[in-house]
Amino acid sequence: MCGIIARIGGNDGAVDELLTGLENLEYRGYDSAGLAVKNGSGPEVVKREGEISHLKEALADEVPDGGLGIGHTRWSTHGPPTDANAHPHTDCTGDVAIVHNGIIENYDELKSELADRGHEFTSDTDTEVVPHLVEEALDDGDDPETAFRRTIEKLSGSYAVAMITSHDHAVYATRRGSPLVLGVSDGEYFLASDVPAFLDFTDDVVYLDDGDVVVVEPDGHRITSADGERVDRAIRTVDWDPEDAGKGGYDHYMLKEIHEQPAALRQTLRGRADPATGEIHLEDFPPGTFEGVKRVQFVACGTSYHAGLVGAQFLSEGGVPAQAFLASEYATAQPPVDEETLVIGVTQSGETADTLAALRQATASGAPTLAVTNVVGSTAARECDDALFIRAGPEIGVAATKTFSSQVVSLALLGERLVRDVTGTRTDGARERLEALSELPGHVQQILDYTSARRVAAEYRDSDAYFFIGRGSVFPVALEGALKFKEISYEHAEGFAAGELKHGPLALVTPDTPVFAVFTGRNDEKTLGNVKEAEARGAPVVAIARGDADGARQYADDVLTIPDTHPDVAGVLANVQLQLLSYYAADLLDRPIDKPRNLAKSVTVE
Ligand code: M6R
Repeated sequence: MCGIIARIGGNDGAVDELLTGLENLEYRGYDSAGLAVKNGSGPEVVKREGEISHLKEALADEVPDGGLGIGHTRWSTHGPPTDANAHPHTDCTGDVAIVHNGIIENYDELKSELADRGHEFTSDTDTEVVPHLVEEALDDGDDPETAFRRTIEKLSGSYAVAMITSHDHAVYATRRGSPLVLGVSDGEYFLASDVPAFLDFTDDVVYLDDGDVVVVEPDGHRITSADGERVDRAIRTVDWDPEDAGKGGYDHYMLKEIHEQPAALRQTLRGRADPATGEIHLEDFPPGTFEGVKRVQFVACGTSYHAGLVGAQFLSEGGVPAQAFLASEYATAQPPVDEETLVIGVTQSGETADTLAALRQATASGAPTLAVTNVVGSTAARECDDALFIRAGPEIGVAATKTFSSQVVSLALLGERLVRDVTGTRTDGARERLEALSELPGHVQQILDYTSARRVAAEYRDSDAYFFIGRGSVFPVALEGALKFKEISYEHAEGFAAGELKHGPLALVTPDTPVFAVFTGRNDEKTLGNVKEAEARGAPVVAIARGDADGARQYADDVLTIPDTHPDVAGVLANVQLQLLSYYAADLLDRPIDKPRNLAKSVTVE
């Protein structure tokens, strides 16, 4: 997904800091990069297809330094990844330079009108209409701010845009449907799509709202609404340090983030559950918060959807009708929604376009909405009526790992609160479950210390395909195991409900398709029956099971052991083993684990 960075400071230093910002945005996925720097006169633009290293090579002989500039990592939506399509884009005169994230839906119409009036275009992008519209407004005599405002009034779609011009020493920016944050430091300001972009320079952040227009100059910033009214936005200090956003000695962010899970889970749980009394303390959700709720719908994508499936199952078992929907299918599913339906958006980033669209649809139908997210200040957190933060810390690897664990734990706590509020009673075994949740950080650590996932990944590295099965609370874990495996190893992997194997997928099972079966200590006998079906076709079986799961151990060729815990919590532990399996399988194949091809961390287009 595209990333924006802008830097406004003294007379020099912009190029280095913009490059740092661009490198910090790499995790979003990109296929070209560029920047524009002002050093006295007009903006000078350098941009290149491919990696940021290409841009650096070009910069070595093309652009002198300056104090102010904008940069961009592009993930192609309109036109292929080429130097010409890379951002920044300029107008006919080269006086205006723009970077943009999102989609300008009416660009075709705007482009043909501009072309009719004599503007020349040099790219296939939707973005390029923006500098030409600003150029026209400047020609009409507008100052840069007015020209910028008049231009964005003409755009429809979702976007974050930042602009510099040859006319003054300022950056103009706005957002509508795409993230944009302002970083405030001593004598320096930054604008970016995401906080880690400028975390090396400041941790003081202003989260901008949709419609905000921000003008940043070396000595200050001014935020106004779309109507030009002055608005105040608080400066918040984030507790993510640059070390958090770096690899911290691991080969990949993904491995680092897998290993961060004990700490992340402690953070998720901190102060929220008391196993001794069975009490739940969810800061914004005191007892009684959800008393009027009749049903719950989860909307989410990818890994977050799998967490949503776990959440829905937990609620249904506790007596609260609940369903999980793929956010991109929510509009067509048209489930009944009213003011007694709580719609929960599960989204790590809080910026996933499909999830935001589903949440907006729910709001339009009168439903209360709640975001379960990792990012304070994200669009989902701000647009929903309430937010529960999973507190996993920044996740840079495209593959979601620690955030899945923290989502599931957050949903278990939220689920317990919901069940109590809606049914008037605690769930069966609530205290035991809370006890198991509080033990999770230690149990995950045991897995990290003793896992044999690397050996198992090596053992089956030449297989044709990889199947993952589970039932009940670990059916979503089977889906998640397969998603992670295919996402980073590029090998064919599928997840199935264990009982479904015999209804079709068994036709694919051969001695070259290992089956990874997840056992929780509940309904294991049935899953064992499915394992035998696979074994009868010659498939090697790897059980992910407790140390004392005799049945699973007896039939499996290999075992990835999980500590003894409550069956409802076992899935989180099994998933950690599967994360490690995927990681080592991908590493053996030398895949670019943190940035798998064709994928982006934050998918901000529908
Ligand atoms: O930020 P979100 O949780 O809304 O992202 C949703 C999916 O794009 C995401 O979970 C994706 O499936 C993961 N990268 C998979 O590892």
